[in-house]
Amino acid sequence: MTAPAPAGPAVALRDVRFAYRGGRDVLDIPALDVARGERLFLHGPSGSGKTTLLGLLAGVLLPRAGTVAVLGQRLETMGSAARDHFRAEHLGYVFQMFNLIPYLSVRDNITLPCRLSGARRARLGGADPDVEAGLLAERLEIAGLLASPVTELSVGQQQRVAVARALLGRPELVVCDEPTSALDADRRDRFLELLFARCADAGSALIFVSHDLSLAARFARTVALREVNRAAAPAAAGDPEAVAAR
Ligand SMILES: Nc1ncnc2c1ncn2[C@@H]1O[C@H](COP(=O)(O)OP(=O)(O)O)[C@@H](O)[C@H]1O
Ligand SMILES: [Mg+2]
Repeated sequence: MTAPAPAGPAVALRDVRFAYRGGRDVLDIPALDVARGERLFLHGPSGSGKTTLLGLLAGVLLPRAGTVAVLGQRLETMGSAARDHFRAEHLGYVFQMFNLIPYLSVRDNITLPCRLSGARRARLGGADPDVEAGLLAERLEIAGLLASPVTELSVGQQQRVAVARALLGRPELVVCDEPTSALDADRRDRFLELLFARCADAGSALIFVSHDLSLAARFARTVALREVNRAAAPAAAGDPEAVAAR
């Protein structure tokens, strides 16, 4: 059975505080909103909490205070099984470390979310997940690797498998954590084009995290994490982040 499509904006954070066990607050965010279908570039220096923020949006981390609403669902009120299910159904996540499943082939890694979630599979409109995975793999230039174990791939290839997995089944929200860091400029541009085209086609909101400010111009909206995060250290003079945040 397919649950009704969730209503509400892609993301609405209110008064969110997060600290790792025993530590100081890494995030203290009064408000952050992302509209449906919006294409947001989020940047900040290493260690500023970008990956932590995406962990909250994915429901893998829980805030110590505040509300995290994704597609109108309050993740902090849900149990861990419900959050896992919600993530599989509605979120495409390209992890900084890819998080591919080492004992599965490229094809099975890509189709995994559609096998975990009936609702996500249903959004393929009756198409076979393996066939759809093949089409995506072709556009990402990894079609020849579909039957290969992911443990045999280069870093750049693993990255593209992670992207295909995130995009398959048209999730309403796609989050990418530094996904272009292992790609050369040419592949990076094609990768961004594919990502934008698929997100536009599916109406997916995209939150793209990078420290590479040269990519910001390609996004409709750019946010420096320190602009929204009160727990951020003040920008040092001459720091490119300080300039960007002005
Ligand atoms: N699992 C963890 N346990 C404790 N501290 C962590 C953990 N992950 C990240 N941190 C700390 O939280 C802060 C933000 O980290 P992170 O979100 O990874 O930053 P970014 O992605 O912007 O580089 C850093 O100070 C980092 O050391
Ligand atoms: Mg990070």
